[in-house]
Order: sequence, then C-alpha cells, then structure tokens
Amino acid sequence: MNRLLEVLRTTPMRLTLRLVALFLVVSLVTFGVTWWLANNALMDAAETALELQIDALSASDRPEDIASAVRTAAARADADHVILRYDGPQGSVGNYLGPLPKDKLAEVRLKDETGDVEGSYILLRKKVAGGELSAGQDADAFHDLREIFLQVLTFTLLPTALLVLGGGIIFAFRSAQRLRAIEDTLERLATGDLAARLPTLPGAPDDLTRVGLGIDRLAAAQEASVSALRQVSADIAHDLKTPIQRLAVLLDQARAQAPGLTLLDRAAAEVDGIVATFQALLQIAQIEGGSPRARFTAVDLGSLAQTMTELYEPAALETGHDLTLTLHAPGTIRGERTLLGQVIANLIENALRHSPPGPVVLTVDGTAITVADRGPGIPAAEQQTVLRRLYRLDRSRSTPGSGLGLALVDAIVKLHGGTLKLSDNAPGLRVTVEFQP
Ligand SMILES: Nc1ncnc2c1ncn2[C@@H]1O[C@H](COP(=O)(O)OP(=O)(O)OP(=O)(O)O)[C@@H](O)[C@H]1O
Ligand SMILES: [Mg+2]
Repeated sequence: MNRLLEVLRTTPMRLTLRLVALFLVVSLVTFGVTWWLANNALMDAAETALELQIDALSASDRPEDIASAVRTAAARADADHVILRYDGPQGSVGNYLGPLPKDKLAEVRLKDETGDVEGSYILLRKKVAGGELSAGQDADAFHDLREIFLQVLTFTLLPTALLVLGGGIIFAFRSAQRLRAIEDTLERLATGDLAARLPTLPGAPDDLTRVGLGIDRLAAAQEASVSALRQVSADIAHDLKTPIQRLAVLLDQARAQAPGLTLLDRAAAEVDGIVATFQALLQIAQIEGGSPRARFTAVDLGSLAQTMTELYEPAALETGHDLTLTLHAPGTIRGERTLLGQVIANLIENALRHSPPGPVVLTVDGTAITVADRGPGIPAAEQQTVLRRLYRLDRSRSTPGSGLGLALVDAIVKLHGGTLKLSDNAPGLRVTVEFQP
C-alpha cells in the first residue's frame, strides 16, 4: 500500500494521470460535439420527412378530407414505425389516440391502451385546416447512433486510457525504484558513510542517471577531502602523542626528584588534561567517520542505565547529588554499548559538575533516555552552541573539563540515528536522547 502511494506521488505518475485526464476530457468533448452534430442531422432529416408526410395528408383544406386521408394512411401504416393522427372538429382519428407531448418536434415515448403503439418516436405536430396533424416515426436511428457512440467510447477511449495508465504505472514504478536507489545512497552519505555510491540504475541512461553520476562525483570528492583531513589530524595526533607522553614521563621523573613542588603537580595535571582533550577529539572524529557502526549489537537500554547509575552513585554522593533511575518499559536498540554508556556518563557527569547539590533523575522510557537536574540550566539561545566542540558557558570556565562532553554525546547519538534535545527543566537542564526502536 505504501509502495503504491509512493508510486502515485512520483513525477511520471502525476504526469501520466494529468495526461490521461486531459486525453479523456478532450476525447469526451470531441465525442460529445460529434454526437450532437450527428443527432441534429438525424433530427433535421426526420423533421423534413415528417413535414412532407403532413403536407401530403393535409393537401385539402377540408377537415373531412384530411380525416379520411389520415384514416386510410394510418390503416395502411405499421404503428411500430409510423404514427399518424388528426385531431379535427369531429374528434381524433389515427393509429395512436393516446396523450401527446406539448413540444412541436420531439423524441417521445408513446404508449396507448391497445398495445399497438409502444416505444420511442420522433413526433412532429402541425396546425392544419380544422385542427392539428401529428406524424411520427420510430426513433430507432437515434438509438443506433447512441449505441454506436457508446461502443466507440468503450472499445477505443477506455482501452486507450487504460493502456496509457498502465504504461504510466510501469514507468512510475521504474522511476520510483531508481529514485529509491538514489535516496538510499544519499541517506548513507548523510549518516557519514562517504564510501556509499549509487548502484547501477536499471534501464537506459536518462536524467536520473546524470543526477546519480553527479552525486557519485560529489561523494568521491567529499570522501577524498575528508580522508585528507583525517590523515592530517591523525598525523598531528601521532606526531604530538609521543612528545606529550615524553613530557608526562619527564614531569613524573621531575616530581619524583623534587616531591612537594606544587608547580610540577599542576603541570602534570595540565598534561593529563591535554591528553584527555586529545583523546576525546580523536574519538569524536572516529565516531563521525562512522566506523564504530560495524560493531553494533543489540543493547538493552534498561540494564545499561542501571549499570551507569550504579557506577555514578559514589560520585553523586560525593558531590551531594541524589541520583535516581526511573525505568518505563525500557527498550532495546542496535548500537555500541560502550558508546551508549558514554552518552549516559557524560550527561550524568554534566549534571553533577554543572548543577549544585540536588536531585538528578535518569529516565529510560522505551527508547528515550532523559537526564534532568535542577541546576542553572542552559539558556535556550545557547542550547545548540554547547554541542560545538570545546564550547563552554562563561560561568563554567572555572570548572574542570574541556567542552567536549556534549559534542561527543551529539556525535554518538547521530551515529545511532537518534535525536538529541536540550530543554528547560524549570529549573535545570533536561537532556532527551531518542533512538529508533
Ligand atoms: N547539566 C548542565 N547544567 C548546566 N550547564 C551545563 C550542563 N551540562 C552542560 N552545561 C554547559 O554546557 C557546556 C558544555 O558541556 P560539555 O559537557 O560539552 O563540556 P564540559 O562539561 O564543560 O567539559 P567535558 O564534558 O568535556 O569534560 C558546559 O561547559 C556547561 O557550561
Ligand atoms: Mg561535560
């Protein structure tokens, strides 16, 4: 059903439907006009013939002569095909004495009590000496004309419309198939799989093939530049890692030789911070590259939240926070357990670090995870900016941290195809992460 709806919404299908509608309208108008003209021509011919008959019967000016002429002619005529009647001073004579229509010339259904007359007739009425003469002929020719038009309509117009519609549906299906291939590739590219390329599209090359080739070229260029960038970052990280590690070792040695020197302790702490920032930056880059997706397994969010709560309870106690966990039918999603644990850890850490002692509530509702505290919160205008790498609010500059926690959360959520929303907990911050079940 969904596929059919999808096909109905494609451009070729819409074009087909419009063309079929246009074709039907034009054909029906042409048919209508032709039928009307043919009907009129038939009616004109019938009128002329009936007028001639009336003129012949009313050649005399005397009502008795007309009545006798009509009586004789009516007796000879077959009432199935010809109706004759004279309404004169002496009453009505003829082979039909039933009710008559008001119109002078019309196609009418006639029926009399004797049963001799029954059917459709074209009837002409004319004033003549002493009364009115009516002559009619059967309307078979008109019925035949209608029949022919109806047959032409059913045997040409309808099949043509059905054929065009059928062709349109086939084209639309094919084009929907091609578009789906393009959409799938775009979706993969959008979620960071820059190696995604279009499969060979079925059918002869057309404008969609050109669009596909354009997408492939764009993806190749993007992949090349991202990989160059990654290479540079990896080189920098690699080149800096060894000197920083050497620096850490040297500082340790210096601290061993000169214990109690606070300057050296601070320098060692700074170096640890640099190492942590480095690792976090590298991890974000790796996650954005999409490579952890290969390690996805089923992850039970309920048990993960339980583990993380137990892990952070001592830290919460230390900072004076009351960390609680609420589970509402916790769901299972496909993902990387360690990274999903990191999301919960970063959010709890933020609540402990950036809000004064108070309640911190972790909730898992189906496949949605929420962490809410009752601290100062984050102003709405900054709720997007805090997701940037290394961005911290002014008031947090004095707290430890490097402003990478939420950037990492954002990258992990995106990797899992989920959404991240920061909102006001009135007071406090509420972070909601929603995954697809
Ligand atoms: N629960 C919270 N309440 C108030 N402000 C917050 C909260 N969580 C984050 N913030 C603000 O958002 C900024 C960015 O958070 P983020 O987690 O990215 O970095 P960080 O906690 O400062 O450092 P890191 O997580 O890298 O150790 C924080 O510096 C803080 O100003
Ligand atoms: Mg943080």
